Amino acid sequence: MSTVTVITAEARRDSYDPFDLSAPHKKWQQFRSEAPVFFHEETGYWIVTRHEDVKQVFDDWNTFSSDNAQAPMRPMCDEGKRIMAEGGFTAYSGMSARVPPDHTRIRKIVQTAFGPRRFKAIEPKVEAIIDRALTGIEDKSEVDFFQEIAYPVPALVLFTLMGIPDEDVPRVKDWATSRAALTWGNLTDEEQLPHAHKMVEYWAYCRGLVAARKQHPGDDLPSDLLQAQSEGHEITDEEIAGVMYSVLFAGHETTTTLMANALKVLMENRDTWDALCADPSRIKNATEEVLRFAPSIVSWRRRAKVNTQIGSVDVPENANILMIMGSANRDETIFENSETFDIHRDNARNHLSFGYGIHFCPGFQLAKMEFGIMLRELTKRFPHMKSKPGSQVEYLRNISFRVPNRLDIELGNST
Ligand code: HEM
Repeated sequence: MSTVTVITAEARRDSYDPFDLSAPHKKWQQFRSEAPVFFHEETGYWIVTRHEDVKQVFDDWNTFSSDNAQAPMRPMCDEGKRIMAEGGFTAYSGMSARVPPDHTRIRKIVQTAFGPRRFKAIEPKVEAIIDRALTGIEDKSEVDFFQEIAYPVPALVLFTLMGIPDEDVPRVKDWATSRAALTWGNLTDEEQLPHAHKMVEYWAYCRGLVAARKQHPGDDLPSDLLQAQSEGHEITDEEIAGVMYSVLFAGHETTTTLMANALKVLMENRDTWDALCADPSRIKNATEEVLRFAPSIVSWRRRAKVNTQIGSVDVPENANILMIMGSANRDETIFENSETFDIHRDNARNHLSFGYGIHFCPGFQLAKMEFGIMLRELTKRFPHMKSKPGSQVEYLRNISFRVPNRLDIELGNST
C-alpha cells in the first residue's frame, strides 16, 4: 500500500532548490521525517532521502538502472549538440552510466588493473606529492587551501596513476569543471556552449592518450587496460578511452572536495582538530566521519525500469530518481545524533558516500589513502592552523557535488 506524503507540494516548491547546496541539511531532515520519497516537479526527479531507501535503490540494479547517471540535468541545446557532434564527441560514460552486461565486463577488466596492488605501489609517490605541496606553503602565513592544496594535489596523484605529465593538470581540471557544470548544473543554452567546446577537447585528449599508449606503453592505467586487451580481454579502444574520460574526472574532483570539506569541518570543530593533532591514530575513523558528515557527492541518479515502490511509495516505470546520500548519511535511525560531527562514532563507515552495490566506487582505497596522508601531514606540520576570520565560502551551483569555492586558512606557523 502506498503512503501519502504529508508535506505539501507548495511547501516543497517554495523552498527547495536542489541545485543550491549551500545549506541543505535542514531541508533534508524535514524530508526524512515528513516526505522521505517525493516527486519534485521542477526537476522531474523522485527525491529519496532515507538511508534504507537510498541503499535499496543502489543495491537493486535489476529494478533501478544507472543509465541516467551521467545525463545532463538540463538537456544540451541544439547548438551545443552540433559543436559536440562536429568535434567527434562520442563519449558518454566509462562505467557509472553503463549497465550489465557491458558494465560487468568492463568493470572486471578495470578492477584487475586498478586494484589495491597499483594503489599501494603509488603510495610513496603520493607521499612525495603531498610533501612537495605542503613544503611549498610552509613559509606563508595564510593560504586558500582549496586553490593551493586541495585542487592540484589529487590531480597530480591521479596523473601519476594515468601516466600523464604534470603540466596537463590545469587543462584537465578545467575540463572536469566543465563536465560537472554541463552534467549536474542548470546552465542556460548560452552558458552551455563554451563547455561543449571543452568536452570536445577533453574527449580528444582521452582518445589521444589511448592511441599514444598503444604506440608506447608505460607503467600506468591505460597501458594496463591495453595489455588486458592484447591478452584477449574484451574491451575496445573506445571503451578504454571512456574509462579515461570517467577516471580523469571521478578520480580527482571528488578527492579535492573531500580534502576541502574535511578541513572546513575540522576548523569548525576545534576540539576535534586538537584531538587529532594529539593522537593521529584517530585519523582513520575521522576519515569515515568526514565522508559521512560532509560527503563530496551528496546525490546520485538512477531510473526505475518498472513500476515499483521505494519505502512504501509507488514509483512509476521510467521514473528518474535522485538519491540524496548527503541526507541518508544523516539519517537519525542509523546514526545517533546524526547532525553532530563525531570522530568517535563507531558506525560512521555505514555512510553511502561511495555508493553501494555493483557501481561502488572502485577508487575508494586511493581516496582514503590520499586523504589519510594529507591529514597526517597537516596535523604534524600545521597544528595551530585555523579558518581566517570573516572568510566566506560559496558552493558550486549544481545537484551532486558539494564543492566550496575557497577555503581561507591561517597556517599559524609564525613562531
Ligand atoms: C572522496 C573521493 C570519492 C568519492 C566520494 C567517490 C564517490 C563515488 C560515487 C558515489 C560513485 C557512484 C557509485 C554508484 O553508482 O553506486 C563512484 C563511482 C566511481 N568512482 Fe568514485 N569517488 C571518489 C574517488 C574516486 C577515485 C579516486 C577514483 C579513481 C581513481 C574514482 C573512480 C570512480 C569510478 C570509475 C566510478 C564508476 C564505477 C562504476 O560505475 O562501476 N572515484 N564514486
